[in-house]
Amino acid sequence: MAKTIIVSNRLPVKISQEDGKFQYKPSEGGLATGLGSIYKEGDNIWIGWPGMPVSKSEHQKEIAKNLKKESMKPVFLTASEIEEFYEGFSNETLWPNFHYFNQYIVFDDDMWKAYQKVNKKFAKAIEEVLEPEDTIWIHDYQLLLLPQLLRQSAPKASIGFFLHIPFPSYESFRLLPWRRELLNGMLGADFLGFHTYDDMRHFLSSVNRLAGLGNSNGQINVDNRKVMVDALPMGIDYDKYAQSAASPETLAREVRYRTSVGDQRLILSIDRLDYSKGIPQRLKAFELFLEENEEYRGKVSLLMVVVPSRDSVGKYKELKEEVDLLVGRINGKHARLNWTPIHYFYRSFPLHALSAFYRMADVALVTPMRDGMNLVCKEFIASKLDKKGVLILSEMAGASKELSDAILINPNDMHQLVAALKRALTMPVKKQIAAMTTMQRSLQRYNIHHWVNLFMERLNYIKNEQKALETQIVDQDIRTEIKTNYKNAKERLIFLDYDGTLVGFFSDPNDSKPDKELKTILKKLSDDPKNRVVVISGRGRETLAEWLKDYNIEIIAEHGVWLKERGKDFRTITNLNDKWKEAIQKVLDGYVDRTPGSFIEKKDYSLVWHYRKVETGLGEARTRELTSHLKYITIDRNLKVLEGNKVVEIKNSEIDKGRAASVWLNNYPSDFVMACGDDWTDEDTFKAMPGSAYSIKVGSTSSAARYRVADHQEIRDILKSLIN
Ligand code: UDP
Ligand code: G6P
Repeated sequence: MAKTIIVSNRLPVKISQEDGKFQYKPSEGGLATGLGSIYKEGDNIWIGWPGMPVSKSEHQKEIAKNLKKESMKPVFLTASEIEEFYEGFSNETLWPNFHYFNQYIVFDDDMWKAYQKVNKKFAKAIEEVLEPEDTIWIHDYQLLLLPQLLRQSAPKASIGFFLHIPFPSYESFRLLPWRRELLNGMLGADFLGFHTYDDMRHFLSSVNRLAGLGNSNGQINVDNRKVMVDALPMGIDYDKYAQSAASPETLAREVRYRTSVGDQRLILSIDRLDYSKGIPQRLKAFELFLEENEEYRGKVSLLMVVVPSRDSVGKYKELKEEVDLLVGRINGKHARLNWTPIHYFYRSFPLHALSAFYRMADVALVTPMRDGMNLVCKEFIASKLDKKGVLILSEMAGASKELSDAILINPNDMHQLVAALKRALTMPVKKQIAAMTTMQRSLQRYNIHHWVNLFMERLNYIKNEQKALETQIVDQDIRTEIKTNYKNAKERLIFLDYDGTLVGFFSDPNDSKPDKELKTILKKLSDDPKNRVVVISGRGRETLAEWLKDYNIEIIAEHGVWLKERGKDFRTITNLNDKWKEAIQKVLDGYVDRTPGSFIEKKDYSLVWHYRKVETGLGEARTRELTSHLKYITIDRNLKVLEGNKVVEIKNSEIDKGRAASVWLNNYPSDFVMACGDDWTDEDTFKAMPGSAYSIKVGSTSSAARYRVADHQEIRDILKSLIN
């Protein structure tokens, strides 16, 4: 039976050793509970690191055996792998870079080597259990190379990847010397999910700039495999938190805690110890609040839980010292015998204790400098059964995109934070209930189960798309069929687009002249008296006439403006007018002035603005501006504006390749018809073809063609098989 393999650096259990015996404690994080519903089903399995070094092989065997019963498989890391892969590259290189703490990045080749090695170790562990129909779901920044490693060993595998932390802007990501390798690693997946649209667009921008791959609605063509990218914010197990908040154990704890703290109003702060969470800034803001609002002294306390995390990493150790000092200083300065400003806990708490804290808090203060999502703020909302309470949330947390009814703040703006605290503590109950109701509704709907289902649905969708494309691929059987029909035919009509179909793309369009191999193909093909070969291109007629002058080839130039049949001169289908060119050229000149590297190509009945040499991104932005500009001035001129590969072309609207091809189809009925093309201007050709024609599209975007191939070389191979 097909299974789902979940892979993350950490398993959903934590192993520790007490009195020589291994203890297994379930992790309480959102991921573990969310995926808990699927990893225990059927043969599904979760693969990951059990969280501590285990060197003895008998211990490893014992742990593996116990975990197997719970549908888990451990990947053991050595002490040096923990140091260089986990603490090192993952948490001293990627973590600061992805959270925009670039001054904290450690650049170290040995750590990079360890990262590669451990990703391979994970790949091996997966390969040991992987079967052809399985789905693999990889999580987070510790395993960015894994999708590509698996793609190499299992090219057909269904691979999903989700990033739980922010994906940084290109300006941050480009700092990493290993940026290309990391990106290629991720692109091994079929579907890549991010928490927010910003993360998604940052990723797509890096893919564009570093791998030179564009996207269409989040779909990228990677080595002829369609890869899909989408924003899919992770939710929480809403019912679990709501039920826990109502449970007798939580209520009993609340009574106990309340007795201890008295009737203070409470501001709650819960995070792992991490510089991305903005803990010192939060403490300083609370101090400033007390200083500016004397009336709250003795009446409001900060309940601060800091969960120990990554404490062998230098920056985390420093942060711990800073937090300890700050808490000590503020409490030392403001505490009274009957009032402690900050209740500080440096440890983790079980679910019911957290639920009691969430229930008791008047305000949740969630102010990360950066956070991929932040689940604590969602858990706070789900625990507020009476709907009273206020969330202050950093706009730098992914969750802020969904929770716009919270008080949103910029964590760097101390005064805004202080004002937000005052606003929260004085907010009328009615307003609190209104905001809480809206946020609860949203979190109930977009819960963790919804997230898991949507992820799987998206992954299946793109896999099915890939399969549909595969069914059209020109395989050996179809090649044989084409060849047989070609041989048996008395008259043959062959339409060939030029750029992208017979030759690849060059940064200088003049480099695309026929090379030796193409010359041989064109010669043999056009010398056969049974053949009528038509090159059907967007290029100008002079260029095509010059490049093809040695062959018995017919030409359709400028997307169908100019037709040249054998032995005849170029002609146009109808009387075309080119009076519009002057006015449009003036507009295009303006864009060339403002866009270094762009230029205008003038054809008889069309104008083309080229931007292949323009800075990535700028050309695309100018294209959007230009096409909307042209929309108005072409409306009454009977013109069409076409966007192609790094070009914008303006031409008479009655012209297209299909119309021109129909002239040949009508004049020269043939018993073998073939048409090859790569971009959407060729779609008109494909649509004009009779049902029996072999229409072949180069590339994987959707097409009216019956068949498809990966690249121009495959077209050449098909043509070679016909003439040899
Ligand atoms: N958490 C916990 N025990 C604690 C404090 C926090 O189990 O004492 C959990 C909390 O309920 C939440 C998770 O830790 O589910 C923290 O997730 P979040 O996305 O807020 O931050 P991350 O640690 O992933 O950066
Ligand atoms: C964040 C990361 C997770 C990570 C967790 C705890 O949520 O996105 O991948 O597991 O922090 O960090 P740790 O280093 O203890 O695994």
